[in-house]
Amino acid sequence: MNDFAGEIARAVAAGPVSRPVSMEALRRRLDRFDFDAPVDASDVLREIRSLFEDGLVQVTHPRYFGLFNPSVVPAAAGAAALVAAFNPQIAVWSHAPAAAEMERRVLRVLLAAVGWNPDASAAHATSGGAEANTTAVVCALAAAFPAWRDGGLRALPAQPALYVSEEAHHSFEKAALVTGLGRGAVRVVATDAAFRMRPDALAVRIAEDRRAGLVPFLVVATAGATASGAVDPVRELAAVAAREGAWLHADGAWGASWLLSTTRRHVLDGIGLADSVTWDAHKALSVPMGCGVFLTRRPDVPRRAFDVAGPYMPPPREGADDPFRTTMQWSRRAAAVPLFAAMASLGRAGVASMLDRMAALGDALRERLAASGFRTVNSTALPLVCVTHPAMEGERRHAGRVASIVQKRGRAWVSPVTLPGGVRAVRACITSFLTTEADLDVLAAELREAVEGGSSHE
Ligand SMILES: Cc1ncc(COP(=O)(O)O)c(C=O)c1O
Repeated sequence: MNDFAGEIARAVAAGPVSRPVSMEALRRRLDRFDFDAPVDASDVLREIRSLFEDGLVQVTHPRYFGLFNPSVVPAAAGAAALVAAFNPQIAVWSHAPAAAEMERRVLRVLLAAVGWNPDASAAHATSGGAEANTTAVVCALAAAFPAWRDGGLRALPAQPALYVSEEAHHSFEKAALVTGLGRGAVRVVATDAAFRMRPDALAVRIAEDRRAGLVPFLVVATAGATASGAVDPVRELAAVAAREGAWLHADGAWGASWLLSTTRRHVLDGIGLADSVTWDAHKALSVPMGCGVFLTRRPDVPRRAFDVAGPYMPPPREGADDPFRTTMQWSRRAAAVPLFAAMASLGRAGVASMLDRMAALGDALRERLAASGFRTVNSTALPLVCVTHPAMEGERRHAGRVASIVQKRGRAWVSPVTLPGGVRAVRACITSFLTTEADLDVLAAELREAVEGGSSHE
C-alpha cells in the first residue's frame, strides 16, 4: 500500500503540473458511464486513475507552488485507503475504539505542541479548516452567551461581533452565515506593513463597536495567512481579548504545523494563549484531504456547544468522549488515522526535518527570486513568497497574467494574490516535501520567462 502512493507520486512528478482541460472532452469521456450496465471494477478504477492523470492540477507535484495542498506521506495515503475499506464509524467511541484511540494518541501530540496539557485540553478531527473555524465560532458563542444554546441569537441582548484581520481566511464569513450571525458580525481589522493584525487597531475597533451597542465575543489571530503567510502577534491580541472578555481563536490551518519544526517553532510564539486553535493536517503535515483539527484548552465548551443525545445511539463508555456529542459532525470518518500513520512512519524527528526543510526551501526561493530581479512583498519565516517585478507594474504583465503564463506552460504552478493595500503579487508556496533546490531553479526560470519573455505570451 506504501508502494501504491509512492508509485503515483513518481508518475505525477514525471509529468506536467497541469495541462489544459476541455470540459467538453471530459464530459464526452465520462459519457461511457451511463450506469445502466455495470462496468468491471478494475476497469472503473483504471479509468478513474487515467482521468486523474489527465484532468487535475497535480497538487502533489514537486513544482506545485500553489495553495496549501500537499504531497502525501505514503503511509498516510495507505491509511486513508484502509479507513475507506474498513469504514470505521467514530460517532461513538464504542463503535470504533481502535480508530478513536489512534486519533486520541496523535491529537495529544498536537495539543502538547501548542503548549497545553493533553489531559486538560481537547482536540478532534474536522473535515478541514473551515469546519474547525466554524467550531471556534460556535464554541465562542456558547462560552460567551449561556442563553444562546436554547434561545439562539434572538435570546442575546445585543449583536455579537467577531474580529479578524484583513488577511484572515474567508471561512469566518461562511461561519457567520451558517451560525446566523450574519456577515456584518465579522469586523475586519487593519494590518501592519507585514500584513499582521494591528492590536491597536483591534482595540479601537472594539471600543467603537461597544459604543455602537455590539458585544465583542471572539478575536481571531491568523497564524499563517492564506495569501501572505503572515502570523498575527498572538501575545498582544491575547492581551486585548482577555481585557475584553472575548474568546481568542488562532487560525493556524497552515502555519500551526511549524509548532513541530525545530527551526521555526518560534514563529508561533504565544499560540498557547489562545482558547482554541485550527490546525489542518491536510496542509503542511502532508496528510490527504479531509483532516483538519480543532483544539481547545477549554474542553468543557465543545460539549456545552454541541451536546445532543439520540435514543438510538449506543450508551457512552466511561472515560471516553463520544465525538457526536462534542463536535459538529454525527457520522464520523476516521479522518485523523492518516495523520497517525504519517507521524508514526516519519517519527517526530522526521516530521520536524520535513517542516524545517520546507522552510529552508522558502528562504532559498526568496534569495533566488531576488537574484532574478523580483521583489518580495510579504514578510514571513514560513515558506510562502509573494513577489512582484518591475515588469509587472503595468497592466500588460500584471500578477494574474504572469501566474497564468506559468500555469499554461505546465512546468510549475503559482497563483496571483492581492494583498492588503491592493498590492498585487505572484504567490509561491512550498507545499510539497518532494520539492528540491532544482525545482526552485525551474520555478525561477519560469517566472523570469513569464515576466520578460516575448510576445508569444501575449
Ligand atoms: C488560514 C486558513 N484557514 C482556514 C482555511 C480553510 O481550510 P479548509 O480549506 O481545510 O477548510 C484555509 C484554507 O486554505 C486557510 O488558509
